Amino acid sequence: MASYDVIIIGSGPGGYVCAIRCAQLGLKTACVEGRETLGGTCLNVGCIPSKALLHASHMLHEAEHNFGAMGLKGKSPSVDWKQMLQYKTDTIGQNTKGVEFLFKKNKVDWLKGWGSIPAAGKVKVGDEVHEAKNIIIATGSDVATLPGVEIDEKVVVSSTGALELGKIPKKMVVIGAGVIGLELGSVYKRLGSEVQVIEFLDAVTPGMDSEVQRQFQKIMTKQGLSFTMGAAVQKVDVAKNKAKVHYKLRKDDSEHEVDADVVLVATGRKPYTDGLGLDALGVKMTDRGQIAVDAHWQTNIPGIYAIGDVIEGPMLAHKAEDEGMAAADQVAGKHGHVNYGVIPGVIYTHPEVANVGATEEMLKAEGHKYKAGKFSFMGNGRAKANFAADGFVKILADAETDRILGAHIIGPSAGDLIHEVCVAMEFGASAEDLALTCHAHPTYSEAVREAALACGLGAIHS
Ligand code: NAI
Repeated sequence: MASYDVIIIGSGPGGYVCAIRCAQLGLKTACVEGRETLGGTCLNVGCIPSKALLHASHMLHEAEHNFGAMGLKGKSPSVDWKQMLQYKTDTIGQNTKGVEFLFKKNKVDWLKGWGSIPAAGKVKVGDEVHEAKNIIIATGSDVATLPGVEIDEKVVVSSTGALELGKIPKKMVVIGAGVIGLELGSVYKRLGSEVQVIEFLDAVTPGMDSEVQRQFQKIMTKQGLSFTMGAAVQKVDVAKNKAKVHYKLRKDDSEHEVDADVVLVATGRKPYTDGLGLDALGVKMTDRGQIAVDAHWQTNIPGIYAIGDVIEGPMLAHKAEDEGMAAADQVAGKHGHVNYGVIPGVIYTHPEVANVGATEEMLKAEGHKYKAGKFSFMGNGRAKANFAADGFVKILADAETDRILGAHIIGPSAGDLIHEVCVAMEFGASAEDLALTCHAHPTYSEAVREAALACGLGAIHS
């Protein structure tokens, strides 16, 4: 048995970042992880492996569709699926080993096994009970199952199974046009699958700016994904390694079915708190099964904190990281802070989709007077040269003060471009501040400046 200032349960982006920060703050720190490698869902079966497959399949798409036009002739590469999966596995390995190295460097003890909290101040891992002045729960989330749909990770898969399919399916049905559905749907479309997305709502990616939603769906359709919107999946039957997906159209209640080699269930995730013993401890939960915390990430039990996907808010790795650093500050007696108004969201399709702050719909609902400056990548020289001119940047600013309230980008490197707007928002900048900042030419970032200019006298290149 060992005694620690802080024990973090879970080593995903929330947990491992929190552990490193605690150690940097001089706290004796341990992190509990039951997987064989550190890094949680993000590094092992989420963000990192999916980005490897998105990158590889995008390279194939470029070779098939754009190389010829640039004078790069020859046969397009063929797909060696085993090798592509190996590349993905190697990428995961480099990242998980990296976290292990950082733990050693910062003297964070890795307590191997699944943790539980038998009492406040105690963490049980295997047969050992460790003492901790503070406990931080960072156990993340798990796939939310759908009634009538049983995930076997072979024919009916979650994002985890979709990252290691035995072969590229001829026909894939994706349930849910959210982030996971569209990222992994595009991977398999580029690799040659026929991909049909079945979505309950009438728009893709719920909660996003509606203009972006429409453009995004249009671009994905142009890339060959087919969409069945306003359709609720009722059940999936599996026989002889094939699936039959039954769905009902909301507009007329008509029932339909479609066959598939693989069905990807991408209908959301739920907080993962199994086996922690929270019930017995009396930890307060929200109606949605999340751990309830106060403004300092502390639960109703003093000394027990929670961060990341197990608490309220967007289930995003970087939101968890920020909370991890802030919670570390809290337990070290400092004042941790997260600005929830400036948390970017990114979808890593091609083009990428990124957003931060308010949408037009939100501002309208609040009755907030705003102006929208929009600029199409068609007017951006670099994007045109790179066959990446689909999409736009939209900046929303207060009608009177010009303060930036939000930004919505669909286009090349949107996930990187969004951050200059995030920094601007953190500094309370106006659209004019961005518009007066010199942006190097030729870069995609000029489109952000042009959108900011469009909040004033007007963009130059449109
Ligand atoms: P999501 O919440 O983004 O989308 C789920 C979709 O499924 C919704 O559009 C919903 O209307 C639809 N749906 C639900 N039930 C349905 C039914 N019976 N029939 C048809 N459609 C149905 O969830 P997703 O994509 O599974 O992602 C889970 C979480 O992981 C999200 O919170 C997301 O933010 C996070 N994530 C983030 C990534 C990123 O930041 N790039 C990448 C992957 C996941």
